[in-house]
Amino acid sequence: MQKIIAIVSGKGGVGKTFVSINLASALHQFGEKVTIVDADVSASNLGLHLGYYSFPVKLQDVLAGNMDIKKATYVHPSGLKLIPSAIDLANCQCSLSKLRDVLSPIDETIIVDSPPGLSADALDVIAAADYIIAVTNPELPSITNALKVIQTAQNMKKTTLGVIVNRIYNDQYEIKSEEIEIMTESHILAKLKESRDVKKSIFLKNPLIVIDPLHPSSIEFKHLAAKLIGKKYVPPNYVSVKRFLRNNGINVF
Ligand SMILES: Nc1ncnc2c1ncn2[C@@H]1O[C@H](COP(=O)(O)OP(=O)(O)OP(=O)(O)O)[C@@H](O)[C@H]1O
Ligand SMILES: [Mg+2]
Repeated sequence: MQKIIAIVSGKGGVGKTFVSINLASALHQFGEKVTIVDADVSASNLGLHLGYYSFPVKLQDVLAGNMDIKKATYVHPSGLKLIPSAIDLANCQCSLSKLRDVLSPIDETIIVDSPPGLSADALDVIAAADYIIAVTNPELPSITNALKVIQTAQNMKKTTLGVIVNRIYNDQYEIKSEEIEIMTESHILAKLKESRDVKKSIFLKNPLIVIDPLHPSSIEFKHLAAKLIGKKYVPPNYVSVKRFLRNNGINVF
């Protein structure tokens, strides 16, 4: 059954693309049929995170009515299916008003990486979705803007699955999780720490969950993916020790 989940935010740069890729990848690892779509057509970079710099058919061609959606679907070496958007200036102006229509042949879970805020493009993406997940950083500007997007989605009769808090440093200047839940009127689905390994995963053109499956954020994504599909995920015992050994080339378990 088709299920469209838009990964949204009030503020740009909070980690939507990072979350979209890794949540989709975690769902894929649980055996779910999933496709990830880059709907940030004016500032697309999902393809770049996964090593797709130029590709013959992109989302813009499908939205323009020129191509079948299947022709714009690529399979990453990790097995994750993606529909990238063109990265050049010529393709920036592209209406997303037909997004739901063009996605209709895909009968599986679709994770949509969205533009930030409440622009016309962002509203078109929310309109196309069944559910939203809002990404925020633990700071006021990001949280207050996230609330605006959540309220807008609610007014559009979309279900908010919850909020993901990303780039947590755990310092005294951060807004605490309980306060974020109150301010956004939503449950927190996952808490992801600031980590240099995110940059590494982009450099390696792979989801973090693939290059570092025992990373604390990878474990969070697996918990969340399992929850979304009604399964329970039990992480391995001694996960930190195993990760340390694995990252040093020792696989003794
Ligand atoms: N947990 C994290 N730790 C460290 N860096 C991170 C983390 N999450 C995201 N980043 C970095 O922050 C930058 C923005 O992330 P990302 O592109 O996923 O955000 P976005 O919300 O999709 O941005 P935009 O609104 O521009 O589309 C990227 O360079 C990414 O590597
Ligand atoms: Mg993005």
